[in-house]
Amino acid sequence: MAKQQLAVLITLLAFLGPAACQQQGLHICFNGWLKVPPLLSYLLCPPGSRTTNPPPSPSPNPAPPSGAGLSYDYYNNNGSSSYCPSAESLVKDAVKKAIDMDPGVGAGLIRLFFHDCFVRGCDASVLLNTTTSKDSPTDTEREGPPNKNSLRGFEVIDAAKAAIEATCPGTVSCADIVAFAARDASSLLSYGKINMKMPGGRLDGRVSFANETDQLPGPFSSLAQLQSSFREKGLSSDEMVTLSGAHSIGKAHCGFFSDRLPPNPSTMDYAFATELEVKCQGNEANMVHQDYQTAYVLDNKFYQNVRANKVLFDSDDVLKTVREVKQNAEYPEIWERKFEKAMENLGRIVDVKSRREGEIRETCWRVNGAGY
Ligand code: HEM
Repeated sequence: MAKQQLAVLITLLAFLGPAACQQQGLHICFNGWLKVPPLLSYLLCPPGSRTTNPPPSPSPNPAPPSGAGLSYDYYNNNGSSSYCPSAESLVKDAVKKAIDMDPGVGAGLIRLFFHDCFVRGCDASVLLNTTTSKDSPTDTEREGPPNKNSLRGFEVIDAAKAAIEATCPGTVSCADIVAFAARDASSLLSYGKINMKMPGGRLDGRVSFANETDQLPGPFSSLAQLQSSFREKGLSSDEMVTLSGAHSIGKAHCGFFSDRLPPNPSTMDYAFATELEVKCQGNEANMVHQDYQTAYVLDNKFYQNVRANKVLFDSDDVLKTVREVKQNAEYPEIWERKFEKAMENLGRIVDVKSRREGEIRETCWRVNGAGY
């Protein structure tokens, strides 16, 4: 863009930015998902203008997610209407089959769970292709910037759901399937070192909005933004750092870190960056492994990579200053136990309103009664 045009744009945005940020439906404040120069970012979304991210509160430890309505062994309660004792093993079978064919899908399933629970609580709103809600736009969460052309694993959820429906129709929610699948993928990709408890009893929501995905932190988020977005969901800074360890598996698009290339030696290892440049070839759509050493193993390597300046995103790099990174890097068992607990807490995020209007979907990608 010519310098003059840029100047005009900046001037215009200086006037429009703050107001626009407060209007629902506009995506310009996308919380760390838009790669914009710092000045432009400030003009577009000055501190305090974001509707979804309040400034950090003084309390470091928020009230944890309630998990209202959830319990362990939810589908094993003989005599209850939710009885479906094979539910969890059918999910595990579907996840194992998928990971045997492509371990990368396991990474996709873990991320799907994170992106579901962060928006409207764990209600499978992330799976919807469309809804019948009159106030729901055609764009569901799947179309939001953090998810579009990025989330994967939907077919594994559909396969598990089909197997469960054939055994216990109308009993097991898609939201629970997403949570169980993330638990099983974590266990398989960590070679049995991570085994979390995961309560069941979630309900499936009936609405889904692309613009609400701005609650998810992005690769250009600052440490304060990361901490604030997790705190808003009832998760502590330590849990945010703990869960970021999932960046020891899976892949990322070059567009999410190309702003860091060529590298600043104080924030990215030179040889690591050179390899990234070769793999990306200037194409933002190319993808690379997040962990350059053990790409398919869920382990504490992420923290070693953070300390060695060998991570992809700005949002990974900013964790360097957090105390827990050193401990997680040095003591894998401590991180594994914390990861189990934090994933369970993530699964306890329940939006009370969404739950009140919730259902057990027949098909995971559409609400009941959609008719197509
Ligand atoms: C702390 C804030 C976080 C940010 C800013 C962030 C950002 C990202 C981005 C930009 C990608 C690459 C997506 C793509 O290129 O298509 C990614 C991938 C991934 N993230 Fe995160 N993430 C965060 C936290 C988490 C958490 C809490 C989890 C899970 C507990 C997670 C699990 C993953 C996984 C497994 C992948 C690889 C997905 C795949 O290969 O399909 N992330 N993340």
